[in-house]
Amino acid sequence: MFKLMKFHSSKMVKSLKERAQKNEVITIKEVFGSYSIDIMGSCILSVDMDVTNSPSEQLVYHANNLFKISIPFFMLLGFFPFLTPVLNWLGVSFFSKSSFAFFRNIVEKIRQDRKNGSDKKHADFLQYLTQVQSNNTFKGETYEQVLSDHELLCMLVMFVVGGFDTSATTLAFLAYNLALNPDVMSRLQEEIDTTFPDNAPVEFEALMQMEYLDCVVNESLRLYPPIARTDRVAKETVTVKGITIPKNMTVMVPFYALHRDPELWPEPEQFKPERFSKENKEQIQAYSYMPFGVGPRNCVGMRFAQAAVKLAIVDVLRHYSFCVCEETEIPLEMSYKGMMAPVRPIKLRVQPRSTE
Ligand code: HEM
Repeated sequence: MFKLMKFHSSKMVKSLKERAQKNEVITIKEVFGSYSIDIMGSCILSVDMDVTNSPSEQLVYHANNLFKISIPFFMLLGFFPFLTPVLNWLGVSFFSKSSFAFFRNIVEKIRQDRKNGSDKKHADFLQYLTQVQSNNTFKGETYEQVLSDHELLCMLVMFVVGGFDTSATTLAFLAYNLALNPDVMSRLQEEIDTTFPDNAPVEFEALMQMEYLDCVVNESLRLYPPIARTDRVAKETVTVKGITIPKNMTVMVPFYALHRDPELWPEPEQFKPERFSKENKEQIQAYSYMPFGVGPRNCVGMRFAQAAVKLAIVDVLRHYSFCVCEETEIPLEMSYKGMMAPVRPIKLRVQPRSTE
């Protein structure tokens, strides 16, 4: 999978060349959004969507539209969670139904093509789930189903859509933070040049061991966690620090607020990657930093996302630097609709590095 990521990452870097030479103002999430769709398509479904070179308006529209959540609906469910089954029954959905259907149709078509087509082996997630499904068996009279068709479809769609926007958002905010903090970017570029000198190919192990890169990515995810909160439902009545949580109550965990709490993070609004250095890391309180959630239902794509984000940023910064321009909004006005996003898209320039 890392090979596929490298392929799409180098395509993305090439796509920046002309734009950098023309000193174009770039909507940075578009660049990283295409890269993310490309890697999700190729690693999960073995489909080369090639959005980087030939953007599909429909695909990009639906990927972005999926997470535009209606605020009144969000509030309604927040205050009256017991209405969820009623709304489900009425067919009212939290996410855009048409966009979800768009992705479901793509996945269904690929599955159907594979069923009808060659027996070519694919080293992707769809292949893995299909193998799991082959464990559905008849035991005497009863049919034991490990994974139904509907569950398989939902998992695939959840992976593609869950991974696309989160990774693109992470990269867009990371680029923004680096453009605003050129000293941090220079230090990161030094680490990159030392780890992969003379344009040596990026190796997975070395990439994941880069200490400063890890600090920079973590700090950017602290300030801008793509998923701002999560929920859990209490299985039993419990009392935590004198507060009783009754069985079946929904408890909201506000990542964004925790990540910016001044009692947990000195100067919380400042971008300071050294908070996550080896020496300082131990002082971070448990459960105060959770960009990927925690516990048995945390993000299953965490390692995949970390590799994809780190690779993309390393590849871009080997050749270019991010720069603020007149169109860069500082500070950003944040949107409260759905996923973590600014109201207006982040605009930056990329400049070829002097060594180019
Ligand atoms: C930087 C990128 C990403 C971030 C910040 C992120 C964050 C999260 C968070 C906060 C959750 C909820 C965890 C909880 O409630 O404890 C989650 C769940 C999930 N994520 Fe990610 N994610 C990212 C990328 C990905 C990718 C690339 C994939 C797929 C390859 C993915 C697949 C999923 C799935 C399937 C779930 C649901 C897990 C479950 O309900 O058991 N995520 N993610």
